[in-house]
Amino acid sequence: MNRQKFVIEGERIILRKLKLSDVQDICENLQNKEMVKWTLNIPWPYKKQDAIKWIRKSQYRLKNKEEYTFGIILKTTTKLIGSISLMHVDYKNKNAEIGYWLGKKYWGQGFMTESVKLILKFAFGKLKLHRVYANLFEENIASKKVLKKCGFRLEGRIRECRFRYGKWHNELKYGMLRSEYEKLYEKRATP
Ligand SMILES: CC(C)(COP(=O)(O)OP(=O)(O)OC[C@H]1O[C@@H](n2cnc3c(N)ncnc32)[C@H](O)[C@@H]1OP(=O)(O)O)[C@@H](O)C(=O)NCCC(=O)NCCS
Repeated sequence: MNRQKFVIEGERIILRKLKLSDVQDICENLQNKEMVKWTLNIPWPYKKQDAIKWIRKSQYRLKNKEEYTFGIILKTTTKLIGSISLMHVDYKNKNAEIGYWLGKKYWGQGFMTESVKLILKFAFGKLKLHRVYANLFEENIASKKVLKKCGFRLEGRIRECRFRYGKWHNELKYGMLRSEYEKLYEKRATP
């Protein structure tokens, strides 16, 4: 992790802070309606102005250490293929929420699993958090799989708390504690 530039390097991807020059890649990736099916904050249809506003907001929040949003960059093409954030960072209680999306053409290749593992390292390693959590629509199978593969535990199921597409949906709550992270990831690093 390069502290100045907020760069985290993985095997196939790099996480780095968003730049205004990412507008085109962001817009391209967010054109598919399936992208916003189970997300809460992505506008639809997605316009250039939405991307500019979002990048500026992310840079401001990053500067103030309120939220850490990273662009996911594919090493082979240097294109931005998605984003991942640590939101609602609560320094007093040492916890934060994780949120992410990936362009449709990049789904199913393990890129988000790799991204989540990188941001967990940042959250528990650099920010010294105690807990990282995620909230999602119960129907979001791919997202559930990503969290499970990374070692998150299902903590709760809130019944019918989200209204969308004319009906009520359940929300799932997943979480990971520092002790679980250490057991899972730091043990693996020891031969
Ligand atoms: C959720 C999302 C980030 C997953 O990214 P991804 O890079 O495709 O995830 P991964 O490839 O690391 O893992 C996804 C897993 O779900 C599986 N999967 C995807 N859709 C599935 C479905 N409908 N049924 C069963 N499994 C499914 C994949 O096969 C893969 O499992 P595998 O590793 O066992 O093969 C991506 O689908 C996305 O951006 N969705 C739209 C935005 C969104 O929902 N964000 C999350 C909000 S909580």
